[in-house]
Amino acid sequence: MALIIRHPDVEDYIVEMSLPDVVSRGGVADLVETGHIVILKDFRLQFDFGALRQLSRSLDDIADPQLRRHVKKLEAPQFFEQAPSWRKPAFRDPLRQTLLDTLCRGDRKLFKRTAAALRYAHDEALRIFAAAFPSYEAYRLVPSVRITRTLFENLHWDDHSIDDDFHQARVFANLDERPRIWHVSHRVPTIMRKLYEEHDLGRFAGRDPNELLNYINGEVLGGMHKTWMDTQPRHRIAFDPGEVWLGESRLISHQIYYGEAALVYMWFVRAASMADPANRFNAVVEEVHRSMSEQGNAAAAE
Ligand SMILES: [Fe+2]
Repeated sequence: MALIIRHPDVEDYIVEMSLPDVVSRGGVADLVETGHIVILKDFRLQFDFGALRQLSRSLDDIADPQLRRHVKKLEAPQFFEQAPSWRKPAFRDPLRQTLLDTLCRGDRKLFKRTAAALRYAHDEALRIFAAAFPSYEAYRLVPSVRITRTLFENLHWDDHSIDDDFHQARVFANLDERPRIWHVSHRVPTIMRKLYEEHDLGRFAGRDPNELLNYINGEVLGGMHKTWMDTQPRHRIAFDPGEVWLGESRLISHQIYYGEAALVYMWFVRAASMADPANRFNAVVEEVHRSMSEQGNAAAAE
């Protein structure tokens, strides 16, 4: 079970629920859409941790900066969709060739073992998505795996730099034998209300919500300049090896404190298929603007 230390000054939005319970209540779209983290209770991926452990995880050995970026944002199918041939080079695709040459040090057996491990995790992620969000119509999947160490991120809300009014669903899993440690703090509506007057957040009304997130991430929470200088209270969660959880990382502020390897799958979902389309991120932000400006007008009229 995940070790969770809840902070009394942050709303308790962490739910632990078994996969059979998720299925019997018809999924958890309503919970995730309203900013809950759902941790799958008593569930562990039977993942081959040893495969990833043997990979060379230092990306410094990859000379080409673009390839290095792609490996950092690796997508699981890049490992398992194509097997290496015995010809040289084994792949036409330079990214796959780099996975073989550098991460697997030319070891085809290790490549195939990693491919099998990631194929299993991929299939499980798809199965969990279908169980958790049975009504969702997804039109795109970004099936990322993180195989490099993450330490001491600054607190932030995810900004995908996409101003489309889309909904996302995410499945996360710890693919390492050590805990993956997250700190999580307020959700977007709460922090907006807290900061609204002092930081004049009304100026972001009607604009791309990423601008608002950028401002809060950078100017209020310190961004890359004043890392770890913010004073927001946090819950702390240590996810077990193979543990799986669901959450909307634009609604929930988070920081990865420590982690070695993870699956981070993101589906773009048609808003009409949500439990409630009014829960989509852009609409939630606009609703806070609307209610805060109403409150401001009422105060001015008094
Ligand atoms: Fe993030």
